[in-house]
Amino acid sequence: MKLGNRLQSIVSMIEKGSTVVDIGTDHAYLPIYLINEGLAERVIATEVLPGPFERARENIEKSGLENFINLRMGSGFKPIKPREGDIAVVAGMGGTTIAKIIDESKEIADSFKKLILQPMQNQAKLREYLLTTGYQIIDENVAIEDNRFYEIIVAKKGIFKAFDEIDVLVGPVLRNKKTSVISEYINHRIEIIQKIIQRLKATDSKTGKAALEEHRKQMEALKEVIK
Ligand SMILES: C[S@@+](CC[C@H](N)C(=O)[O-])C[C@H]1O[C@@H](n2cnc3c(N)ncnc32)[C@H](O)[C@@H]1O
Repeated sequence: MKLGNRLQSIVSMIEKGSTVVDIGTDHAYLPIYLINEGLAERVIATEVLPGPFERARENIEKSGLENFINLRMGSGFKPIKPREGDIAVVAGMGGTTIAKIIDESKEIADSFKKLILQPMQNQAKLREYLLTTGYQIIDENVAIEDNRFYEIIVAKKGIFKAFDEIDVLVGPVLRNKKTSVISEYINHRIEIIQKIIQRLKATDSKTGKAALEEHRKQMEALKEVIK
């Protein structure tokens, strides 16, 4: 089985031989790949919805990997005990959902050596949550798949450290990584913000003006990063 660039980027952040917990596994593609490629010792996969749970169960059974992938039903980290795994992956959900999943089970989330998080939207909200609650962002990357950009954030429990607006908006690691994909991604974000600014210029309301100001600030911050 071949993975797309998004999941492959997540895989590249997993140390060989780890016990991995995959929260919201859906088809169980990631656990199956990790075991088949000899990259993980064992995977615990969780799912909250019956449909995806059944899909995961069937795929694990078809692959004959029931002894290596332990599938559990439940929300977020609730089916996991502290120190059951080394690395937890929470991918393919919104940034606010990911923050809520961590916040509901901090003791368990904090017991992992690292959390690999891949928010589909609200990335800045997730970073703000992590940075204000004492998580350290230790790595970040951007993957492109089917013309769409995906941010990957790696965090671990640490001590509170001061951060600024660019750490939240772009990321403390991404802001200093100068790869062509990251520059392309930031330019793409600038283009989107420029379009929003054009629309907001036509509004007269107080909230519209505040939003215009906020987007202008964001655009300046993004331009600063790729300068
Ligand atoms: C878009 S899929 C992503 C699947 C896989 N993680 C990936 O990145 O390819 C999101 C999955 O997360 C599951 N999910 C959403 N909220 C969840 C929660 N609180 N706990 C466990 N699973 C959840 C959904 O049911 C769905 O199967």
